[in-house]
Amino acid sequence: MLVASLPSDPGLGRGLARSLQARHSDVTYKVFPDGESYLRFPEIIDDEVMLVLTSYPDQNRSLLELFFSVELLSSKGIERVYAVAPYLAYSRQDKEFLSWEIVSGRAILKIVRSAGLKKLFVVDFHSEKLLEEFSDLLINILPVKTFGRYLRENVEEPYILVAPDIGASKRVKLLAEFLNKDYVVIRKIRDRVTGEVAHELPEDLNVRGFNVVIIDDIISTGGTIASIARYLVSKGVHKIYVLVSHGLFVGDSLDKLRASGVSKTVVLNTVKHRLTSNLVEYLDVTDEVAENIRKTLIK
Ligand code: R5P
Repeated sequence: MLVASLPSDPGLGRGLARSLQARHSDVTYKVFPDGESYLRFPEIIDDEVMLVLTSYPDQNRSLLELFFSVELLSSKGIERVYAVAPYLAYSRQDKEFLSWEIVSGRAILKIVRSAGLKKLFVVDFHSEKLLEEFSDLLINILPVKTFGRYLRENVEEPYILVAPDIGASKRVKLLAEFLNKDYVVIRKIRDRVTGEVAHELPEDLNVRGFNVVIIDDIISTGGTIASIARYLVSKGVHKIYVLVSHGLFVGDSLDKLRASGVSKTVVLNTVKHRLTSNLVEYLDVTDEVAENIRKTLIK
């Protein structure tokens, strides 16, 4: 197998190649003065290629580079073309929330599948709906071991795992099972008239004095986590840890998190955007991704 890093590879390619005992290559890349992307692969003799990319920042360019690459490799007769996109953009637009909206998440998956991509490995993918619809293509890797080990080594007991809404409960349940711990799901209540969001813990639960760990898939503006953190602070919790796979950290999100009472935010190396801050820690998910690729492809 050849592991080929596309320009947006967030730094997983070489490590993956090592773990998979595969060859690694970068792809020659430049941007023309008018903004178009140019890519050139080395001559490939392998019958299996794993592309490595991410899609933040610059979602549109990196996705286009994926389409171009899959098309080229397929047209060269390579049958087993795979990709690892630990963060795949547009996964939140997975249905027509309003009629005639573009379902971007579905469009991207249809395009890569029809171009010849056989498997697409993603990390902590947002949409259960698309995971079901594209179950032949998508392999979703939940970073249970990476996060689980971090919690064992870094967070003082007693602590409680918290799912910020029903949508997050599956990923929290798996982590809780790995750690042999309980978890709680916070109920999100939206006022239909004002649109304001409130949160609610199970009635009989007292979190006063506990450390809490909020688990989610994406931090974009930081609004969701900040709102939950403020609510938990009002309930008297001690320290708040946030474990989120994809740290997009848009705008003043970090200030929002700090002001809301978050003590530490832990994210994975799934995007190319990196912050330097004592509030943020990065974990390397390469080994967990490699392990899942091996399980899927080497039966
Ligand atoms: C929403 O359902 C997602 O799981 C994240 O909670 C959300 O995308 C985070 O966005 P933001 O940081 O802008 O609140």
